[in-house]
Amino acid sequence: MNITEVDSLDGYEALHYCEDTDTGLRALISIHSTQHGPAAGGCRLWNYASLEEAKTDVQRLSKGMTYKNRSAQLPLGGGKSVIIGEKKTPEMMRAFGRFVDALDGRYFTAEDVGISPSDMEIVAEVTPYVAGLEKGEYASGDPSPVTAKGVFACLARSVEYRLGKSDLTNVKVAVQGLGHVGWHLASYLHNAGAQLLVTDLNNDLVKKAVAEFGAVAIPLDEIYAVEADVFAPCALGAVLNEETVDQLKVSVVVGAANNQLSGPDIGDLLNSKDIFYAPDYVVNSGGIINVAAEILKCDDPSFVSSRIESLTQTLDKIIELAERENIGMHSAADQYVEAQLNKA
Ligand SMILES: NC(=O)c1ccc[n+]([C@@H]2O[C@H](COP(=O)([O-])OP(=O)(O)OC[C@H]3O[C@@H](n4cnc5c(N)ncnc54)[C@H](O)[C@@H]3O)[C@@H](O)[C@H]2O)c1
Repeated sequence: MNITEVDSLDGYEALHYCEDTDTGLRALISIHSTQHGPAAGGCRLWNYASLEEAKTDVQRLSKGMTYKNRSAQLPLGGGKSVIIGEKKTPEMMRAFGRFVDALDGRYFTAEDVGISPSDMEIVAEVTPYVAGLEKGEYASGDPSPVTAKGVFACLARSVEYRLGKSDLTNVKVAVQGLGHVGWHLASYLHNAGAQLLVTDLNNDLVKKAVAEFGAVAIPLDEIYAVEADVFAPCALGAVLNEETVDQLKVSVVVGAANNQLSGPDIGDLLNSKDIFYAPDYVVNSGGIINVAAEILKCDDPSFVSSRIESLTQTLDKIIELAERENIGMHSAADQYVEAQLNKA
């Protein structure tokens, strides 16, 4: 196994590259910041077209984790890893675990796109610097219900702020993606009296939501243009672009998906259209909060719930900043986090 430190972007602590000819592993670990604790962030399996593309992505994602972990007030820094390729094998995951281990705890890994909890169990055979496990004393398991709880609380707060409604009765929410997080979110919304309009690539999930929640099924491409109060993107990233924002008829956007804005200019566009955007990395941080309890071997039973409750307070601080500076929520969130990073 060959591990080398390669050039990273300015402002990043380190970028490590690993090649293991025995298992075919090619992986990168980017450590953006360990200023507030060990860098933490998931491992993504993706068939990048080139090593350069993988480097760009892993660094962008690791910086995003610094912002997410700081906004959630976790004693963790930002990091991320990627495995380059389409397929993984147990031997490859073990080699990846040895790569993580070689960094001596500066980086903790967990699941991300293309990687399952069972892959992380294999990683855990060779390193303690892994979380999101299903077995073990501090195992945190599936973070999705916790993520959904945080998104739900922030959605309710956003509706109160923008629509002046103190509850969600008859509030219309368009949910894109009924997967792990989207399904739980839809269930919380239904229980709170909201009306659901839903879409998913998986038609069985849509049918189930119609049956269980009385949801209205919407064709995939029509979800942006529906008449609703809230749009909740819970599927893919970068779904908000000029074309989709142009179609929106909602007043509020709050969802679980990572990196919802295709670029910072889209945050400005939402702001100019007077659509309230609750920043993704603030509202969806329930997942990393859940994982953090495992990384930190936390015995406090209220660690996760108290931090989920405080997400709406963070949102309020960002709202205050956005109002004071007359800027969009996406810019206010970055400024809020950067002020804390600079203070430290
Ligand atoms: N799982 C977590 O705890 C967590 C935490 C933070 C952020 N997120 C983010 O939230 C999003 C959802 O995560 P998840 O764990 O629920 O994933 P998931 O894969 O379980 O669910 C995604 C769902 O979206 C559907 N989908 C995909 N493309 C679609 C499209 N074009 N239109 C409509 N539906 C589509 C899929 O069929 C699937 O049902 C992702 O962006 C993820 O990165 C998840």
